[in-house]
Amino acid sequence: MKLLISFMLFLCAVVYSRSQAEENRPPLIPNPQKVEWLEGNFILSNNIFVDCPYSKLRTYFLSRMKTLTGLNLKPGSQRASGKKITFRTEPAAENQNKEAYSLNVAEDGIKITAKGEEGLFRAMQTLFQLISPELKAKKASASSAIPFCRISDSPAFSWRGLQLDCSRHFMTKDFIKRYIDILAYYKYNTLHWHLTDDQGWRIEIKRYPGLTKKGAWRKEADGSVYGGYYTQKDIREIVAYAKERFINIVPELDMPGHSMASLAAYPENSCTGGPFDVSIIWGVMKDIYCPGRDSTFYFIQNVLSEVIKLFPGQYIHIGGDEAPKDRWKQCPKCQARIKAEGLKDENELQSYFIKRIASYLSSKGKTVIGWDEVLQGGLAPGIIVQSWQSFQGAIDAAKQGHYVICSPASHTYLNGDPENLDLRIAYSFQPVPKELQGHERDFILGGEANLWTEQAPQQTVDGKLFPRLLSLSEVFWSNPENSDYDGFYRRVQNAYADLSALGIEYGRESKIFSTKTSFDGSRKEFVVEVSQRQKDIDIRYTLDGAEPGTGSPLYTSSIRIDKTATLKIAAFKNEHSLSRANTLSFSFHKAVGSPVTYKSRYDERYRAGGGNALLDGVRGSLDFRDGNWQGFEGTDFEAVIDLGSSKEISKVAPRFNQNVNSWIFLPLSVEVSLSDDNINFTQAKTITNDTPLKNSEILTKDFEADFNNIKARYIKVKASSIKKCPQWHPGAGSDAWLFIDEIVVE
Ligand code: ACM
Ligand code: ZN
Repeated sequence: MKLLISFMLFLCAVVYSRSQAEENRPPLIPNPQKVEWLEGNFILSNNIFVDCPYSKLRTYFLSRMKTLTGLNLKPGSQRASGKKITFRTEPAAENQNKEAYSLNVAEDGIKITAKGEEGLFRAMQTLFQLISPELKAKKASASSAIPFCRISDSPAFSWRGLQLDCSRHFMTKDFIKRYIDILAYYKYNTLHWHLTDDQGWRIEIKRYPGLTKKGAWRKEADGSVYGGYYTQKDIREIVAYAKERFINIVPELDMPGHSMASLAAYPENSCTGGPFDVSIIWGVMKDIYCPGRDSTFYFIQNVLSEVIKLFPGQYIHIGGDEAPKDRWKQCPKCQARIKAEGLKDENELQSYFIKRIASYLSSKGKTVIGWDEVLQGGLAPGIIVQSWQSFQGAIDAAKQGHYVICSPASHTYLNGDPENLDLRIAYSFQPVPKELQGHERDFILGGEANLWTEQAPQQTVDGKLFPRLLSLSEVFWSNPENSDYDGFYRRVQNAYADLSALGIEYGRESKIFSTKTSFDGSRKEFVVEVSQRQKDIDIRYTLDGAEPGTGSPLYTSSIRIDKTATLKIAAFKNEHSLSRANTLSFSFHKAVGSPVTYKSRYDERYRAGGGNALLDGVRGSLDFRDGNWQGFEGTDFEAVIDLGSSKEISKVAPRFNQNVNSWIFLPLSVEVSLSDDNINFTQAKTITNDTPLKNSEILTKDFEADFNNIKARYIKVKASSIKKCPQWHPGAGSDAWLFIDEIVVE
C-alpha cells in the first residue's frame, strides 16, 4: 500500500511537471542535469534560518541574498526551529565531482548537499536563480515563492571561463568584481584576465615601474591620454574576492608578441632598440620581444616572479599568439641564437622562447597556458593549449597528449558582431572536436568565452557579452546530450527580467533587423523597409538626427522620406535599448541619379551595387561594408559627374571613410573642379585632410568644396590616396584603401 501511494505521488509529480506551463518556471541557466518540478511553493521571507556549517560560505550567502533580494535571512543552526535552508557536505559524496550538488525545495525547507564547499557554492547560484526576478528588482523586504523541486546537478566541463581583455580598454576594480559575481551566477569558474598587450600594460610590477608609468598610458590621436592599471593591492583584493566565489583567476601576460606597451617602457628588450610608443592602433605589431638577448628573459622572469606572488592559482597564461617574425629575421642576436641552439628557423625560435619561459614557470610550480601558436616549432612540456584560430589547435594538442582549452573565435569571440556569431551559433558550440577519439577527448578541459576590447570600452561590455554568455554557460556546464536550443531560447526570454534585475545592460541575440531602401520615382520619395530578425522587440526611429528612445515613433510599416533627412533606427526589448541606432542619411541633392564616368575603377568586392552608388541620395554610414561605399585599392580616385545641363553650384561634398585597422585611410587631399565642356576644368578647389591618419577611431568625413553659385555641367572629383599603408601601420608597405560614398552637390 505504502509503495502504491508513493508510486502514485511519483506519477502525480511527473504529470504535473509536464503540464505546468514552462513560462512560469524560473529560467535556470545553465540547465541542471536533472530537474524535477513539483507542485507547491516554498515561501522565502525574513523568517527563514540559514544553517550552513561553513562560516565564510554562510556569510557570503546571507550577504548575496540581501544584495539580490533585500531579504535579511537569519543565521541559524541545526537546533533552530522554524523553516530552514540547510547546507550539508556528505562524506558519501566522496567520488562525486567537487562542483556537483543536489538541491531540494520542499514544504519543510530547502536542503542542499555536496561533496564540499565548492559544490554548495554552485548550488547557491541555482537557488538565487530560483528566486523571482520581481523580488530581485524590488530589492525590498518581501517574500518570494520558490517552486518545489528536486535538482541534481554537475558540470560537463571543469574549465568554464571568460577572457576579459583589460589592455585595449581598462576595466575598473569594481567592474571586475561585478563580473566575478556575474560569472559565479552563471556557473563559470575561471576569469582569464588579459593584462598586457600592445595598447596598455595593466599590472603594477615593483621592479619595473616604467611598465605602468609609461606602458599603462597611450596618447590618442586627438591628444587625450587613455589608460589605467591595477596596483598590486588591487590585484590581491580581486584575487581574494574571486577565491571566496570559487572563481580561478588566470593572469595573461602576452609574449613574445603583443608587447609594445612593455617595449615602450623598456625598448632594450626589442630587436631594434626602439624607441616605441604604446600603440594607439589595433592589429598585430612587428616589434616584439627579442629572444636573442638573455637580458630579455631575465626581465620577463623578474616580472613573472612578482606575478606568481600575486596569483596563487595554478595557472599562468603567457599568450604566444600573433608574433610576426620580421624583426627576428633581421636581428643578428636572434640569428645568433638560432645558430647557437641549433634551431631550424624563427618558428623554432618562438618555441625556444616559450619553452624557456615555461620551464622557468614550471620550476616555480605553475602550469603554463598559451594560445595555439605555441604549437609552432614544437610544444613546451606540460603546456596547456588554448585553441582560438579554429578547432585545429585543440585537435593537434590533444593528439600530442596536451590539455586544451577550446575557444575557437568562430563560436566564442563575443566581441564579434552578433550578426555573425549569434545566440544560436554560440549555443551550437561543442568544445570536444569530433576528430578526437577515445581518451584523446579527455584532454579537453572545457572552454572560454572571449571578449577582446578594441571596440569595447567598459560601458559596452555587458552589451557585447549578453545574452550570448548564457549560451556558453550552458555549453560548458550542461550535459551535451540534453542540448535543446528551443528550450534554452525560451528560458533566455524569461531570463531577461533576471538580467535587468542584476543590472546587466544586455545587447542583441543576433542581427536585430535589416533595412532595405528603394526610391519611388513617381513620388520622388525614398522608401525604407525594416525587417525584424530577433523576436519580441520594438523598432523605433527618428528623422531629425536624434537618438531614438522608448518614446520615439514605433515602426509599423515602411518609412517614406521626401526631403534631406537623417533616419535613425533602434531596437528595444522591454524598454531596454539593444544597441546603438542604425543611421541612414538621405540627401536630395542636385546630382542624384546623374551618370558618373570613372577614371580609376572601384574594386569589385566594394562596388556598392556599381555605377550609380555615388549619386543615389543615400550616404554611407560608419560601416564600410554597409553596401553604400565604393573601395579603391592602392590607387587615387577620379571621376566626372555629368549634371545633364548647366546648373548653379554652391557646394560639392564627397564623403570618405577612415578605418585604419581595415587599412582604409582618408584621402590626403581632394580636388574639385568644374567644366561646361568636359575638357577644360577650372575653379579648382583643393581640400587638404587635417584629420590624423594614425587614429584607430572609425570615422567618416565630408570634404566640402564651396563655390559661389557657379554654373557648370561637369564636376570632376579627384582624391589622392596614401596608396601604401604607412611605416607605423601593421600593413606597412601593402596597398591602402580609399573608400568613398555619395558626392553631394548643392
Ligand atoms: C588571439 O585572438 N590573438 C588570441
Ligand atoms: Zn632579436
